[in-house]
Amino acid sequence: MDIARTPSIADGNPQMADAPPVPAQPPLIRRADYKPFPWLVPEIRLHFDLGIETTRVVSTLKVAPNPDAAADDVIRLNGDGLQVSSVKLDGLPVKNWEMDGPDLVLPLSAGEHEVEIVTEVSPEKNSQLMGLYASNGMLCTQCEAEGFRRITFFPDRPDILSTYLVKMEGPVAQFPVLLSNGNKVSAGESAGGRHWAEWHDPWPKPSYLFALVAGDLVARTDSFTTMSGREVDLAVWVRAEDLPRTEHAMDSLKKSMKWDEEAFGREYDLDVFNIVAVSDFNMGAMENKGLNVFNTKYVLADPDTATDGDYDAIEGVIGHEYFHNWSGNRVTCRDWFQLSLKEGFTVLRDQLFSQDMQGEAVKRIEDVRVLRAVQFPEDSGPLAHPIRPDSFREISNFYTATVYNKGAEVLRMMRTMAGPVAFRQGTDLYFERHDGEAATCEDFVKAMEDGAGLDLRQFRLWYSQAGTPKVEVSLTHKGDTATLALKQTVPPTPDRIAKKPMPIPLRLALFDRDSGSHDGEQLVILSEAEKTIAFEGFARSPVLSINRGFSAPVSIEREVSTEDLVFLAAHDDDPFARYEAMQDLVVAHLVAVCSDSLTGAAQEAGRKAIAGALRKVLTDDRLDDSMRGELMMLPGQTYLAEQFLVADPGRIHAEREALKVALGVALESELIALHERASTLPATLDHASRGARKVKAQALVYLAAGNPDVAAKMAAAQYDAAQTMTDRQGALMVLTGLPGVARTDRLIDFYNRYRGNELVVDKWFALQASSLHPDAIEHVKALANHPDFNLRNPNRVRSLYMAFAGNPHAFHAASGEGYRMIADLILALDPINPQTAARFVPPLGRWRRIEPQRAALMRAELERIAATDGLSRDTYEQVTRSLG
Ligand code: PHE
Ligand code: ZN
Repeated sequence: MDIARTPSIADGNPQMADAPPVPAQPPLIRRADYKPFPWLVPEIRLHFDLGIETTRVVSTLKVAPNPDAAADDVIRLNGDGLQVSSVKLDGLPVKNWEMDGPDLVLPLSAGEHEVEIVTEVSPEKNSQLMGLYASNGMLCTQCEAEGFRRITFFPDRPDILSTYLVKMEGPVAQFPVLLSNGNKVSAGESAGGRHWAEWHDPWPKPSYLFALVAGDLVARTDSFTTMSGREVDLAVWVRAEDLPRTEHAMDSLKKSMKWDEEAFGREYDLDVFNIVAVSDFNMGAMENKGLNVFNTKYVLADPDTATDGDYDAIEGVIGHEYFHNWSGNRVTCRDWFQLSLKEGFTVLRDQLFSQDMQGEAVKRIEDVRVLRAVQFPEDSGPLAHPIRPDSFREISNFYTATVYNKGAEVLRMMRTMAGPVAFRQGTDLYFERHDGEAATCEDFVKAMEDGAGLDLRQFRLWYSQAGTPKVEVSLTHKGDTATLALKQTVPPTPDRIAKKPMPIPLRLALFDRDSGSHDGEQLVILSEAEKTIAFEGFARSPVLSINRGFSAPVSIEREVSTEDLVFLAAHDDDPFARYEAMQDLVVAHLVAVCSDSLTGAAQEAGRKAIAGALRKVLTDDRLDDSMRGELMMLPGQTYLAEQFLVADPGRIHAEREALKVALGVALESELIALHERASTLPATLDHASRGARKVKAQALVYLAAGNPDVAAKMAAAQYDAAQTMTDRQGALMVLTGLPGVARTDRLIDFYNRYRGNELVVDKWFALQASSLHPDAIEHVKALANHPDFNLRNPNRVRSLYMAFAGNPHAFHAASGEGYRMIADLILALDPINPQTAARFVPPLGRWRRIEPQRAALMRAELERIAATDGLSRDTYEQVTRSLG
């Protein structure tokens, strides 16, 4: 794709792409309306005559009546913006078909038939990146959820499973590599410098798992021997210059394959497994059968260009897509309302994999941090939905933190209640029972009941009720008895007001204050609205540690003394609970400060307590650095805002920064000592060195607040000496927030050093857009006009604008300018790439939970978007729900 001249927002004229035609009010699709399709399509043959400008597609479907559905005398084939060249039925041209909106409807008598349809599409004009599109001169596809209908007419729904035979043909020079799902069955040369390849996928699959890639790519190859002794050829396909950065991806793939055999008994089922990296991609990656397509961000890594966090994310996403081969592909979804069946389950699987690879404690903390930063706000806002939604207008809007991350938490609760062994019996039964089928969430729950021996009747509410449950906890003590009182409420959400109590598994322990230990952890399941439990044998009031390991995705509310939190932060043997105690300590303090409920003296005392706890974290030599780094992190702005019914983002930001200043001042010498000690470790990828880099970055963050001059010198020195991207980015992040020449020099250096490396230039954009610098808004405006900014590349758009929307002082500028910039972006991007545009709506959608002046400004921007003609279905749905 030629991106030499790309539209910028400042142009104000984004009318250049194939904007989808949009009805005034896109229809609401309901889960309750599911009906099986009248026809089956056991086989499809596809022939692609490939070209960047035009690709001709001949699709031949074998169709037969579906015995499990009411018969129909027509077949409705979904399309989206397709040109029909011809239609044949049983080998003969027919004219009796008609278009109904975007769909093709063909009369069909009972019995088996062959339907052949010829269509043409234009990959280079496809800026939505759904269907067949061009990226850097190569062709690739993205079909989930409803992209296959942008390639050819088909019953584009996940309960239609077909075997695919795919022939691709095109110029050798332009497309030397031709890939599709399954195994390559034949290939050859044809006249005029052209060649072809034919691929066959023996496993019946839904259309959303179809993929094709054609381009000038090279591969890192390897092989894996499965548990039954079959050899699988592995390949990671990239542009030639990226080949040196594929080793980690390949390692991650082999680890994933091994782990799924050991942890879930799942073996790979084809002779080849291909991964292709593309620069233009709407999401992280896609699990197409045997041919995973990845955003380059989740493939390419070397220490000079990728951070330790990038390494972990690559391992996690490669695992995720690989694990879909069973949870998603061999057992797929009946309809898109069941999305969490494959996504929640696969997120749980990738989390457990990463826990085993990277360490359980830190991974769990990171996963909970993401859940709270992204899913909790979603669950308490206008876009709240259950993990199994009841309706949608555009399914792309439901690839959410709720379906993915809360979905994983719901399964994790089942695992906690059953124990890992019984849970595995449940998943074994699920795979055995539903292999080759399109299943439902209910099927999974049933298999878990039968296989793991759980009674999940009440637990099913987790699938239908949205909203983060609140659990009020109080512990009283009398004589030698400690009494725990628990009370749950599930908050109302836009879809439903009245809610029922749900089973909430809470791991808890009661600590003896003197010995600092406890007599064993217990699992309490709170199934009723209220419950009290008495614990005997406590002469002194114990310290309660509850929701250990974050055993339930709830918010715990309790009166707890600073003293108890300080105790837990230092003594809890559950690492998550220790982290949680540190977080609670800070959250309680900042909430009180922001509510003006503390006297000056009380505020001083609060800061002292936090500084004391943090000092222990900095100096406790039994802690490993990667855990220390977690304990050093302050609760994020969005999680803090969640604590208020109506939040003042300006105040929260200011108080959080003020606390950072106080901590940076109080702990300056400890922070410098920690940074110095950590700087002696080598620039290697082992656990200890990675932990050291993490605490270095954290130490700089506090020092930058407490003593900016010292921090600027240390950060500049760290930047200049950096041998890893982790160190370089950590230093540059701090410098970017501080005015001064060190900032400018290093930003210029960084750009010049890495210009041409898309993923690193993305970091350069993101660092500036998320910085604490007072002029961050101006920086973002300038960057939007930078020659490297490009509205057509989702990674670049996100690196500038997602970072900006997550930067509290800039996005929430009291003038409303930040809101206007995001609304302008949405309007400019919507005609080009609606799926990505719609993802910028949620930050504005938070208005109801924001103080009135900013709320009015946010709402006004949403109304301006809503009043725009020709909005995509994606943006229309998100904006109207947000205005509610
Ligand atoms: N199914 C992909 C995943 O989670 C996500 C995805 C959805 C990718 C839609 C592209 C488009 O693994
Ligand atoms: Zn997935």
